[in-house]
Amino acid sequence: VSAASPPIGAFREEAGALCVLDQRALPDEERWLSFAPGPPALDGVCLCIETLAVRGAPAIGGIAAKGLAWLARGTTTTTAAAFVAEQRAASARLLATRPTAVNLQAALDAVGAALAAAPSQEVDGLVAVVADAAAAVCAEDAAACAVIGGHGAVLLNDGDVVMTICHTGAIATCGQGTALGVVHSARAQQKRVSVFALETRPLLQGARLTAWECLKSGIPVTLLTDSMAAFALARHRVALAVVGADRIAKNGDTANKIGTYQLALACHHHQVPFYVAAPRTTFDAGCETGAQIPIEERHPDEVRRPRGQRGFAPADVPVWNPAFDVTPASLITGFITDVGILSASALSAALQRQDGAGRGLEQRRG
Ligand code: MRU
Repeated sequence: VSAASPPIGAFREEAGALCVLDQRALPDEERWLSFAPGPPALDGVCLCIETLAVRGAPAIGGIAAKGLAWLARGTTTTTAAAFVAEQRAASARLLATRPTAVNLQAALDAVGAALAAAPSQEVDGLVAVVADAAAAVCAEDAAACAVIGGHGAVLLNDGDVVMTICHTGAIATCGQGTALGVVHSARAQQKRVSVFALETRPLLQGARLTAWECLKSGIPVTLLTDSMAAFALARHRVALAVVGADRIAKNGDTANKIGTYQLALACHHHQVPFYVAAPRTTFDAGCETGAQIPIEERHPDEVRRPRGQRGFAPADVPVWNPAFDVTPASLITGFITDVGILSASALSAALQRQDGAGRGLEQRRG
């Protein structure tokens, strides 16, 4: 496994506070928000997810798990029953913050399952169970990112150019990233891979975060507006496109940042391979096709007044602002996962084998 050390994490724990890198302030400022144990941590994490201070499917899962752990750390409950009720209510609140990334559900389920299986009936013991479960969620995501990077790097050669959208690097996950993690791994193998980053309207995760992380990591990057993707594929030699995902249905249909579908169509036309990189926690065996994936719609002002700026559009023009789109499986060359690179049909078969007990992809053995 060739993982690069992430240049910075989405969140960190200090002695008395859960600290979150405020991604809204990037690239201008590396600003950290700090939350004390108990209700302030839960309130803070919910608000951070809703406002995209923390974003990116695996990072949302990781910080939600930490939110439960830091709520537990400051709990004033005195009985196991009250502690469990507090955790359940918090979990429901966290789940309601954003609807599309299934990693959030997976992380909350993992902590909930650990709590349900805990033998200890003392509150102190349960606090430790939640802390350990949250740490495991983050550690498993970091490990998955490293494995994804190793699998994906095999697809890249020295000198290749990769096109991507949104931001899928270190601060979108608990490790080195998914799609951008593939580039980090290839670079760690001394392959001189460079990136065409699409700016990713309306919130500019590509322009603000991918460009920032690439520059910080020494990865050559060229920024393009979203509308330049097709022409860039026509005029430049792009080895492949690789994107992240927020939820992948059983048939391989993939929800990811708005603009991904358009990029997949352009890649199809230009015969450029189009890969989705994601950990098992992004696969939803309970979702048959992309039509069942809930798509978040955000406030019209994100489109009318990008980053609060006036003059982009009439203040009252009607807007449709879906935060994600669904790319049909037929446009996806392969899925770079922590269990290997799978075609859509192999993915469907793997998800079919699951007994319905949970989300995610089973570990391939042997
Ligand atoms: O709205 P965002 O910024 O949370 O959307 C993020 C994406 O769409 C990413 O591509 C996806 O979550 C994968 S991050 C490794």
